[in-house]
Amino acid sequence: MPLKKKSIESARSLTCYCDGSCPGNVSNGTCETRPGGSCFSAVEEIYDESTGTYEEERTFGCMPPEENGGLLMCKVAAVPHIHGKNIVCCDKEDFCNRDLRPAYTPKMTTPAPELPVSSESMHTLALLASIVVCLSVFIVIVFILCLTYKRREKLRKQPRLISSMCNSQLSPLSQLVEQSSGSGSGLPLLVQRTIAKQIQMMRLVGKGRYGEVWLAKWRDEHVAVKTFFTTEEASWFRETEIYQTVLMRHENILGFIAADIKGNGSWTQMLLITDYHEVGSLHDYLSMSVINPQKLQLLAYSLASGLAHLHDEIFGTPGKPAIAHRDIKSKNILVKRNGQCAIADFGLAVKYNSELDEIHIAQNTRVGTRRYMAPEVLAQVLNPQQFEEFKRADMYSVGLVLWEMARRCYTPISGTKTTTCEDYALPYHDVVPSDPTFEDMHAVVCVKNFRPPIPSRWQEDDVLATVSKIMQECWHPNPTVRLTALRVKKTLGRLEPECLIDVPMKIV
Ligand SMILES: Nc1ncnc2c1ncn2[C@@H]1O[C@H](COP(=O)(O)OP(=O)(O)O)[C@@H](O)[C@H]1O
Ligand SMILES: [Mg+2]
Repeated sequence: MPLKKKSIESARSLTCYCDGSCPGNVSNGTCETRPGGSCFSAVEEIYDESTGTYEEERTFGCMPPEENGGLLMCKVAAVPHIHGKNIVCCDKEDFCNRDLRPAYTPKMTTPAPELPVSSESMHTLALLASIVVCLSVFIVIVFILCLTYKRREKLRKQPRLISSMCNSQLSPLSQLVEQSSGSGSGLPLLVQRTIAKQIQMMRLVGKGRYGEVWLAKWRDEHVAVKTFFTTEEASWFRETEIYQTVLMRHENILGFIAADIKGNGSWTQMLLITDYHEVGSLHDYLSMSVINPQKLQLLAYSLASGLAHLHDEIFGTPGKPAIAHRDIKSKNILVKRNGQCAIADFGLAVKYNSELDEIHIAQNTRVGTRRYMAPEVLAQVLNPQQFEEFKRADMYSVGLVLWEMARRCYTPISGTKTTTCEDYALPYHDVVPSDPTFEDMHAVVCVKNFRPPIPSRWQEDDVLATVSKIMQECWHPNPTVRLTALRVKKTLGRLEPECLIDVPMKIV
C-alpha cells in the first residue's frame, strides 16, 4: 500500500546522472526517466583476467518505471546473499543518484575456479579416509596386543609341562638326542653303539620280570640301562623298535637314548639305555610317599598325556602309528623329579597303522600283568584284530593305577589339624593272593565283577572326587563306554589348571 502511494506521488520524469548506461552509450551524461521511473547507481565486481582479481565497476543511469520491472530491480539490493553486486535507486530529485555509492559484499579476491573447490573437498575426503584408516589400524593393533597379552597370560598360567626337555640347559646327552631325533626316531645306530660301549654300570635299581635295570654313567651323566635276560630277545627287540618309532618322544614317555645287542653265539647281551629317573617307579614312590591333591592331579594328568600321545595316530609325513601299551601298571610308570609321570616298559606294546589297517603284534610270548588285566582280556574275548580294543584295555589298567594314586592323596580330617589317607596297596590286594593266577583274577574281575573300593573321604576334595569318578569310568566292564586317555587328560586339565605346575618330588 505505501508503495502504491509512493509510485503515484513520483509519477513524473526525472533527469538522472548516467555513466555506463547512457542513451547512445555516452559517458558522464544524463538520461531522462519515463514517468514513474527512478535514477539508479549500481556496482558490480567484474573479474579481470589480466590481473586475476575482481575489479569494481560502477554504473549510473535511469531505471524504468515500476510496472516495467524497475522497482523489482531496485529491490534486488535488499537481497542479502548477492555477492559482488548492488544497486540503489532514488526518485527524490534530478541527479539524486550522482552521489549514491551502494556498498556490496565482495566476491572472492581470486576467481572461484572449479578445481580448488573440488580439491578442497578431496582434501577433506582424504583427511577423513586417513583418519578412518589410522583408527582401524590402531584398533587392529590394540586387538592384536590384547590377544598376545592374553595368550602370554594363558601360557604363564598353564602347566609347565614342557620342562627338562625344552629348556636351554639341556645336558650334552639330551642335546645329542634332541638334535638327531627331530623326526622322533632316535640317534643313529652307530652313535647308539658307541654310547653303549662307553657305559659304566653303577648299581642295580630295579628288577622286572624280563630283565634288570641299572643306574649307569655315560661320561658325566646318569642313565638307566635295562639289561634283558637272554631268553627275552624278542622283548628287547620290540621295546627298541617301539622307542625308535617316529614321533614317539614325549615328556611323559621314558626318553630313549640307545640300544645295543652283542653276542658270541652262546651268549647274548641286550641293552636298552634310557633317561634315569632317581625317584623310581610310581609303585615305589607311592609305597614310600603320600601326596597332596595338587600332586595327584599332576601325576594323573601327565600319565593321561603320555598315554594319549602313545594311543594317538599321527597322519602325514612323518606320521606316527597308534601304540597300545598292554602292560600299564604302577611299576611300569616312572616318576620324574618335576612330579610328572613317564611311561616305561614297552616290551609288549602293539602298533597300529590305520592306512594299512595293520596291527603289529610282537613275536614274544610275554603277556600283560594279570592283576591289571582288563575283564575282556581275562575272559579272552578281546578281538586282537580291533586295535581300539587294546587301547580300551589300557584304559582299564589306568583306572587301577589312578586308584593306587588316590589312596595316597591325603585330605584333612574335619575338626582336626591332621590329615589322612589310605595305606599303599596294589589293586585287588584284598581279594586275590600276591601273585594271582589268571583264574583268580577272572573270578574276581569277570565273575564277581569286583572293583577296588572307593573311600567316602575322596568326595571331600575336588581333585580326589574327579579322579575317583574318572577311575570308575575307566574300569567299566563294558570297554566301549570307558573314557579315552585324551578325555581323561582334558578333564584333569580343566580342573584347576593353575595347579598343574611342576612340583618337585621328594621321597618322604
Ligand atoms: N629309567 C629308569 N629310571 C629309574 N628306574 C627305572 C628306570 N627304568 C626302570 N626302572 C626301574 O626298574 C623296574 C623295571 O623296569 P621295567 O622297564 O619295567 O623292566 P621289566 O621289563 O623287566 O618289567 C621299574 O619298575 C623301575 O623300578
Ligand atoms: Mg616292567
